[in-house]
Amino acid sequence: MAKLGVNVDHVATVRNARGTSFPDPVKAALIAESHGADGITAHLREDRRHIRDEDMARLKASITTRLNMEMANTDEMVAIALKLKPYMVTLVPERREELTTEGGLDVVRFETGITETVKKLETAGIHVSLFIEPSEEQIRASHKVGARMVEFHTGVYCGAFESGGLEGATQALDALLQGARLGVSLGLGINAGHGLNCDNVEPILAMEGLEELNIGHSLIADAIFFGIGPAVERMKALIATPVLAK
Ligand code: PXP
Repeated sequence: MAKLGVNVDHVATVRNARGTSFPDPVKAALIAESHGADGITAHLREDRRHIRDEDMARLKASITTRLNMEMANTDEMVAIALKLKPYMVTLVPERREELTTEGGLDVVRFETGITETVKKLETAGIHVSLFIEPSEEQIRASHKVGARMVEFHTGVYCGAFESGGLEGATQALDALLQGARLGVSLGLGINAGHGLNCDNVEPILAMEGLEELNIGHSLIADAIFFGIGPAVERMKALIATPVLAK
């Protein structure tokens, strides 16, 4: 069964909207863990718009599952990761003006820099995953730079599902399924995330070798109505359910 990494960024978004100390993303992480989260994910963005440096340190010190630090491949972030030593780093592209991570990392274009970072982090005992589109060239490049894992950007699939349901998302789903097969054949671990929710998650579970889903926005949105514990439990139950498309 695929693991569930709960992304707590948007608990910090709500906190920062009022400059208070609550709601606390660390508290959310601990509740999520007690309701079945297999890991906690947080994105330390260059502009610190949600998660802050002290949140990362408190998450590392407090959680009992695995910390996945999402970050851009910059000298500043690499230095922070080497000091923090999360279980895993997921390298993502980042642009200040974007609302959320748009598109995957261009591993082909930034091969040299990514190779260096993967080596530095892996040497320090930190697993590295690359957040990429499920295209053959990006998957092969991810293997070439020495990453042990990739996380497929599911945004295109989720967008297509939102407007056209499963039928409308067939092409995007096929790209993910094919990409997973290629990744597994190269020995890469496969994660997936971005835009996943209770309606669109099931078909994704048919991806070969799927190890972990990273889900944030929809879980925090559901938590407004049900509480974060029940929201995590509901997603875990869906992931545990035998899937349609296997
Ligand atoms: N995975 C990665 C690499 C991301 O950048 C994000 C968004 O921060 C997510 C997963 C989670 O996406 P969402 O918040 O849409 O569930």
